[in-house]
Amino acid sequence: MYFGLYKPARVIESKGPDFFIPAHPEPRQTEPNIFTIVLGARHSLIGNLMEDRYHSGVDSFRVLTRQIVFVNSPEHVKYVMVSRHANYERKSPQMRRALAPLIGDGLVISDGETWKWRRPIVAGVVHKKRMPEFAPTMEEVAEEFARGWAELPEGTGFELTHQMAQLTAKIIAQTVFGRNLGHQAAHMLIDGFASYQKSVDSFNLGYFLGADEGWPLLLGPKRRRAAAMVHTVVDGVLDAHFSGQGDRGSMVDMLIKHRADNSGPEMDRAALRNEAATMFLAGHETTAALLTWAWYLIANSPWVEERLHVEIDMVCGEGPVRMSDLPALDWCRAIILETLRLYPPIPLLPRQAKDADRIGDIDVEKGALVMISPWLLHRARDLWDRPNHFMPERFANGGKADPFTFIPFSVGPRTCAGLNFGLDEAILCLATLAQRFRVLPRQGWKVEPVCRLTLRPQGGLPVTIAARSGKGRP
Ligand code: HEM
Repeated sequence: MYFGLYKPARVIESKGPDFFIPAHPEPRQTEPNIFTIVLGARHSLIGNLMEDRYHSGVDSFRVLTRQIVFVNSPEHVKYVMVSRHANYERKSPQMRRALAPLIGDGLVISDGETWKWRRPIVAGVVHKKRMPEFAPTMEEVAEEFARGWAELPEGTGFELTHQMAQLTAKIIAQTVFGRNLGHQAAHMLIDGFASYQKSVDSFNLGYFLGADEGWPLLLGPKRRRAAAMVHTVVDGVLDAHFSGQGDRGSMVDMLIKHRADNSGPEMDRAALRNEAATMFLAGHETTAALLTWAWYLIANSPWVEERLHVEIDMVCGEGPVRMSDLPALDWCRAIILETLRLYPPIPLLPRQAKDADRIGDIDVEKGALVMISPWLLHRARDLWDRPNHFMPERFANGGKADPFTFIPFSVGPRTCAGLNFGLDEAILCLATLAQRFRVLPRQGWKVEPVCRLTLRPQGGLPVTIAARSGKGRP
């Protein structure tokens, strides 16, 4: 694929009877050249990071004509994301260009006035006080998914990221678009998004050659078709709602209803479509990646798995896992938080500096690419004890981390709108499946974390599932 020009970094992974250091690329010892940077960005955005970046600090370098500033200390993360939010709220041109054909000016890539008036609307729709309304959908979809696994012959193998995406896409499709979304429409949505994302390019050469807005993206027929599939389904859902046939409790319904009592500008049809598509996009890839990594970590740490099983059996017994069980599932929560630390589903938060500024000792140019990286921050040697070890005990017994050192959901005004949704969903799904099954990665499979839009195992994670003794099978 890279014609022998690019050699990905070596992957480090090691384990013993009571420790697990999960897969991560070996940091580079020397600054990569421009070929390595460009080809490397296409392979993985975390594959070429230098050893000294795994330490807190701020530093700057140049790719062609563009200044890139890495901000990797809690103090300066706070400065960028909170104190100087207005200067750094704008997403990078590559991200905006890559996603606009699919989600238009949806919240994830909007800024300025559009973001300001839409943020409270979208955040309200997915707010934590609405979790009890979403709970039955989450519980039922997770249960149904576990029943599907139970019907598979013992030792069935499959690719896990795909399975987890099916699960989380079903949950988010039913909550965003309604529980009466047909089977065919749901599949069109899921396939459309998956196919679109596969063809997204994470490097816009124009931006690095001086064009502050990057170069326009040439939409190939594949990507055009994928976006059209998604838009057809979303338009159908909007039509159903406008003709009074939509699901009353769905997020789309809430967005539409908001039009009636919103004193700001009216959310027109395009805005509704963009925000609904954004919720779907933002709400399933991330949780699917999180669950995949959690299974990988658990499977390689028997002492963690054993404690997980004991907790689930004690809290939920043989009965279905309920949202009301979540406060008692402390170890399960700790595993999910530690997974978010080691494998943040969105490992890079790129921002474009609106005006020149100074961060720490670094002079920042107007238009510079300012990188905040949960991946780097969560593995900084001076901020975490044994940063590359999987240690859920960091978060056990309600343990928390500093909000500017642990940022899997970002931080500040642009924090993930679906934080509570994603967290509760992940814990519920993990507990529902771990109650009955063990997930066993294929022996000898080399796991390599790669980052494009989200952080995934390269080539997926082939696994087999096994029923826990006396559980799992009907
Ligand atoms: C474990 C799951 C999730 C993780 C780790 C996650 C992470 C993030 C991160 C890091 C951002 C900021 C991106 C940036 O600044 O470039 C973000 C934004 C966002 N997320 Fe999530 N997310 C998750 C689940 C969800 C879910 C379930 C939803 C919706 C139901 C959602 C909706 C959003 C939205 C709308 C934004 C844009 C917020 C804004 O710009 O104001 N996310 N998410």
